[in-house]
Amino acid sequence: MPATSLSEYLIEKQKKLAHLNDGLVSVLVDLAEACKKTAHAVNQGALTHSLESLDSINVQGEKQQALDVISNDIFLAFADQNKHVAGLVSEELPDVYFPHHLQSDADQFPAQRYLLAFDPLDGSSNVSLNISVGSIFSVLPCPDAVQQPQAQAFLQAGKHQVCAGYAMYGFSTMLVITLGDGVDCFTLDETTDEFVLTSPEMKIPQDANEFAINMSHQRFWEPAMQRYVGECLQGVEGVRKKDFNMRWVASMVAEVHRILVRGGVFMYPTDSKIKKQGGKLRLLYEANPMSFIVEQAGGASSTAYERILDIIPDHIHQRVGVVLGAKHEVELVNAYHNR
Ligand code: AHG
Ligand code: MN
Ligand code: MN
Ligand code: MN
Repeated sequence: MPATSLSEYLIEKQKKLAHLNDGLVSVLVDLAEACKKTAHAVNQGALTHSLESLDSINVQGEKQQALDVISNDIFLAFADQNKHVAGLVSEELPDVYFPHHLQSDADQFPAQRYLLAFDPLDGSSNVSLNISVGSIFSVLPCPDAVQQPQAQAFLQAGKHQVCAGYAMYGFSTMLVITLGDGVDCFTLDETTDEFVLTSPEMKIPQDANEFAINMSHQRFWEPAMQRYVGECLQGVEGVRKKDFNMRWVASMVAEVHRILVRGGVFMYPTDSKIKKQGGKLRLLYEANPMSFIVEQAGGASSTAYERILDIIPDHIHQRVGVVLGAKHEVELVNAYHNR
């Protein structure tokens, strides 16, 4: 069978999914193009001085890497020329951004309009180490026909997402997407510059024996998280009656990709040190899109207390605790926390 390109895949999906109109297709195609361009910038690395840190601090209070800014500009440039993008939120921008087409062509906007939220470069602390980084995106419906949707329009529960995805810039570039109809993985064929479907209908293996958490925060964890991880560490002699392995890449994209491929659970819980800010990971452009993907692949995702996709955000850069992966593990973590 010949390989299926992303455009062929989208034509087939349009026959099946009522919400996949031409506007949404064009947004997704542009996001894929932005990922290709970002992949190129990442791959050029030190040749273009893009691995350096900058002096600037973003709205999260993080020191920016040159690639944070380069990738953000790439995504903005695609949004600027896509009339179906009504507004966007990025990890690297303090406020909602309105694409340039809105300013130039004020009264002609199409019916099919969307809100984008993205993390242009995820795992940027790994940039100087040549360890995998990625991009994460979420597409929400634009609630009404207003010209410039304000921050309030973005404060929708993640269950309303119409599409989510991530690109992973590893030794090959992969694009993983969901349109609410399962999860499919594409690999960038550098000889044709096309994304080709390589792992259709990804499903998270349910028999988990791998967990991912930043152990350096252990002393700040809640008792329920101490208990869950403690039981994993007891191994075959303990209550779980099996040995667990541990991983921590510090790139959420790479962690979620590993879970899709070989199962397990990824946790960045809130703890006594970061409780005030809610957690480390951002709801709109990290937790929500990854939760949509994980649920669509047969897994589960929570804050350790509640389903992430049900949370109605208070503000665009809201942070939450995240526990995602194999359903049984996430349910166990939830049970320990909700007791
Ligand atoms: P970003 O690089 O977009 O700011 O995200 C970093 C996130 C996420 O990718 C990863 O899971 C986590 O931060 C790693 O955090 P620690 O460095 O605290 O382990
Ligand atoms: Mn960051
Ligand atoms: Mn990130
Ligand atoms: Mn980032």
